[in-house]
Amino acid sequence: MSALRAEIARRIAQDGPITVADYMELCLFHPRHGYYTTREPFGASGDFVTAPEISQMFGELIGLWAADSWMRLGSPAAFVLAELGPGRGTMMADMLRATRVVPGFHAAARIHLVEASPRLRERQAAALAKHRVDWAGAFEDLPAGPLILIANEFVDALPIRQFVRAGDGIAERMVGLDAQGALAFGLRPGARLDERARARLRMAPPGALLEICPAGLTLAERLGARLATGGGAALLIDYGHRGEREAGGGFGDTLQALRAHASDDVLAHPGEADITAHVDFSALARAATATGARAFGPIGQGALLERLGIEARAARLMRDADEPTRATIEAARRRLTATGDTEMGTLFKALALVHPALGLVAGFAPGEAFGEYAA
Ligand SMILES: C[S@@+](CC[C@H](N)C(=O)[O-])C[C@H]1O[C@@H](n2cnc3c(N)ncnc32)[C@H](O)[C@@H]1O
Repeated sequence: MSALRAEIARRIAQDGPITVADYMELCLFHPRHGYYTTREPFGASGDFVTAPEISQMFGELIGLWAADSWMRLGSPAAFVLAELGPGRGTMMADMLRATRVVPGFHAAARIHLVEASPRLRERQAAALAKHRVDWAGAFEDLPAGPLILIANEFVDALPIRQFVRAGDGIAERMVGLDAQGALAFGLRPGARLDERARARLRMAPPGALLEICPAGLTLAERLGARLATGGGAALLIDYGHRGEREAGGGFGDTLQALRAHASDDVLAHPGEADITAHVDFSALARAATATGARAFGPIGQGALLERLGIEARAARLMRDADEPTRATIEAARRRLTATGDTEMGTLFKALALVHPALGLVAGFAPGEAFGEYAA
């Protein structure tokens, strides 16, 4: 039994079952045995590959999105360029390389990375050695000023709670111990929920499961308020869905574990597998607009990258490349943008949050304003 599994089992035996959110938090960020505290999971030798690790084009285009947003803000002489959960620092490095050609952008940017893992901070420092970079432990710790913020696959790592329509009531899904002492899911009746979530579950068929990400909602509320008062724009890209705007109402268990590029039992290897849940973009957009920001999307990652010019960028990179490199670039472009039901261009989505006076940001259309068009 892994050290973390033993510790979680001890805690449950002593204090009772824990929420799915507590379980996720322990698995990902336990100070000694957490997944992100102990390992570097990215790439072919790790557990998963993220978009910035597939191709430099991803970070380059997001960099140009950030520079364009800065110009739309009136090119302020100083602004906070923040990334949430930068992993190996690859996206920010590609963003900064692509934006060298934008006069004044680098001089104005105060680069801040929000990263919980000390180990990954070291990796990010190495990737960004040529730049002045500061770290923050949480979004709330970012300095004041106009903000341009980006996050790729950050929100899906924030702990979720799961609620189930059980009989006439609502129960919370918990992690406890079975008769053999193994970790097992169970239900705790009488769960407390806000009125909107309660109403959604009451209308759903028995057994329907609703996921709520309290940390994601708090982040969206604070980000919305900050953009509305200090100015700026944010781009959140993640594996996710449109929540209650989905056909079927956005119910279902999306908690998943990935280990060595294969799906794993969520309870089998705490601290040794990546655990994520799909992001409910409608819930994030609603939270951010409630505190004053305007939201656009979510749109598919494929559409975003195409609108930002991935085809032209790929063609430019291929122009001087040899045949194997051309094939690699073309394969990466297709992988990032393909829009089949199970492909990245559709499964991954992008949500833009902006200061209300900013109007649009690159990659989004006026008709994609959240809450301002028919669902
Ligand atoms: C799936 S990785 C994505 C990395 C990178 N954005 C990429 O696309 O390659 C999630 C990142 O978010 C960080 N992270 C997750 N939850 C966090 C939290 N609550 N606070 C700060 N960083 C967090 C992880 O340490 C890691 O760097």
